[in-house]
Amino acid sequence: MFNKKTAVITGAGGTLCSEISKELYKCGANVVLVGRTKEKLDRVADEIKREGGNVLVYPCDVTDKEGVKGLAEEVKRVFGGCDFLINGAGGNNVKAMPTITEFDEREIKGDLPDGQRGLFDIDTDAFKSVLDINIMGTVLPTMEFAKQMVERGGGSVVNFASMNSYCPLTRCFAYAMSKAAIVNLTQSFGAYFAPANIRVNAVAPGFMVNERSKTYLGTVEDGLTERGKKVISHTPMKRFGEASDLLGCVKWLLSDGAAFVTGVTVPVDGGFLTLGGV
Ligand SMILES: NC(=O)c1ccc[n+]([C@@H]2O[C@H](COP(=O)([O-])OP(=O)(O)OC[C@H]3O[C@@H](n4cnc5c(N)ncnc54)[C@H](OP(=O)(O)O)[C@@H]3O)[C@@H](O)[C@H]2O)c1
Repeated sequence: MFNKKTAVITGAGGTLCSEISKELYKCGANVVLVGRTKEKLDRVADEIKREGGNVLVYPCDVTDKEGVKGLAEEVKRVFGGCDFLINGAGGNNVKAMPTITEFDEREIKGDLPDGQRGLFDIDTDAFKSVLDINIMGTVLPTMEFAKQMVERGGGSVVNFASMNSYCPLTRCFAYAMSKAAIVNLTQSFGAYFAPANIRVNAVAPGFMVNERSKTYLGTVEDGLTERGKKVISHTPMKRFGEASDLLGCVKWLLSDGAAFVTGVTVPVDGGFLTLGGV
């Protein structure tokens, strides 16, 4: 399906994009695995290499302009350029979040119980870093790799939005606003790059299972936390998503089957967005 194509995947050592990387390799693509921690990328690369695949591991912080430039040069040198970019690197930071879900007047006087933190006590550097990774971490790789896609006559970019893009969850200020920005950016980059035959779309995963989610949401099989119960009661399909649930959508967005599709964000969420919650 993707023979002779080269796919750069950021966040490739993570839960969702490791599976996407393996799937794109299975579909014939050369894959470039990007993230800050080499060991995580090596684990994914080892699985791919066992099957003889063309894989390049490149540890890099996607918010670092020079680092991303070096990544693009290496992709050009090794594979001749990039056809597909998956902007999967992203995340949140607990220091950017209050522990309480709504304003409590005790936070004004610093009287919240031990271990509790209101909005006024969050770490604003952490807040900025969340905006940076989710927003600039998508903008910078797109700018670099769009140049190579232009040289190759076109390409396809898939960004990562979230349920927070549409309506913020409690406590997630920086994460939610940055994922809302991804929907908007996907539209404006989609329009901007259309004359270059580069399509820019996004997926908005619902609540997917990963090691973190098992702690703060629980599991359907072994018991849910209060927050997990709210999510499942709001999800018509009554389960969390798996990385494998994203594969069909990502492959479709990358493929010629979506040749007339650009600027859209596709929710992959078990129906979470269909309900108002009442
Ligand atoms: N899981 C969900 O339920 C869910 C729902 C909606 C949206 N999403 C989005 O989907 C994407 C993938 O999520 P996931 O669940 O697979 O998360 P994950 O397991 O935490 O993977 C994210 C990966 O991004 C990498 N990363 C973070 N900051 C980076 C940076 N500055 N430069 C380069 N790489 C960086 C991390 O590796 P290093 O730390 O080694 O760099 C990590 O491997 C994210 O954008 C996330 O916001 C996830």
